[in-house]
Amino acid sequence: MDLIEGINALRLEKNAIILAHYYQRDEIQKIADYVGDSLGLSQKAADTNASIIVFAGVHFMAETAKILNPTKKVLLPDLSAGCSLADSCPPDSFSKFIKSHPEHLVITYINCSAEIKAMSDIVCTSSNALKIVESVPKDRPIIFAPDKNLGRYISKKTGRDLLLWNGSCLVHEAFSVDKLLALYKTYPESKIIAHPESEEHILELATYIGSTAGMINYVKNRPEEQYIVATEAGILHKMQLEVPNTVLIPAPAEEDNTCACSECAFMKVNTLQKLYDCLLNERPHIEVQEDIRLRALQPIQRMLELSK
Ligand code: 13P
Ligand code: SF4
Repeated sequence: MDLIEGINALRLEKNAIILAHYYQRDEIQKIADYVGDSLGLSQKAADTNASIIVFAGVHFMAETAKILNPTKKVLLPDLSAGCSLADSCPPDSFSKFIKSHPEHLVITYINCSAEIKAMSDIVCTSSNALKIVESVPKDRPIIFAPDKNLGRYISKKTGRDLLLWNGSCLVHEAFSVDKLLALYKTYPESKIIAHPESEEHILELATYIGSTAGMINYVKNRPEEQYIVATEAGILHKMQLEVPNTVLIPAPAEEDNTCACSECAFMKVNTLQKLYDCLLNERPHIEVQEDIRLRALQPIQRMLELSK
């Protein structure tokens, strides 16, 4: 049977919704009910009436959906879809870190495990990190974790001295500044746009810095320009659909790879076949220990409240 027909039949029969991140393979984005950034996806997960949520993304995203929907089945097509940034913040060391700074409010980027969220005061995404940090009284010291690049960027924008956890995303740290400058010389008319998980020297070259949804909106509102896009290359699918006549060039990675760009291997482990299989078998599904879920839920709800 055709995989897409099969997925369509199963999602109808089981009242399932398919949520996909912009970094998913094109063919998955095409069949998803909703494609978005981390904030949009968690808002959608908080809102849905579907009985089953199929999360075409990585583990921490599906886990967030499960925290918000304890009675629903949340499926992840491949349980090995992890995240280098989430892995850079192990619960034991983070617990010691926050205990040694008891006066600090803990803001964590959504790219972390449920255990880390359970130790946090407020969760944020790249779309709302600025707003969330600004919502905290100026005299309150803040720990920002796990992404040091996003944290440094927010610290610069707000003028606040954030205490940063030393974590990062391999995909966004893979961009080569030398290759980017060389590319810029070839396309001197282009504008560089970047995701704030990128390193400081890349962000310094960018005309616009924002989340994946923010980058797509920026380009959509200025389709007459040409862009070098410094984030995971999966974003180009949706971006090009929005601006079919605009030249979009993926920013080059240090290592030579097939796409001459930077791809998240974790995001790409999900395939249409695995998506079909997980809908059929209702596995693999996400489970979160109830005491951790309840503690992780509060900082996520605070974020959703602050993002209205
Ligand atoms: P956003 O979805 O917030 O743009 O973050 C990108 C990312 O790295 C998700 O893993
Ligand atoms: Fe994690 Fe980076 Fe992949 Fe996003 S792009 S899922 S932060 S490894």
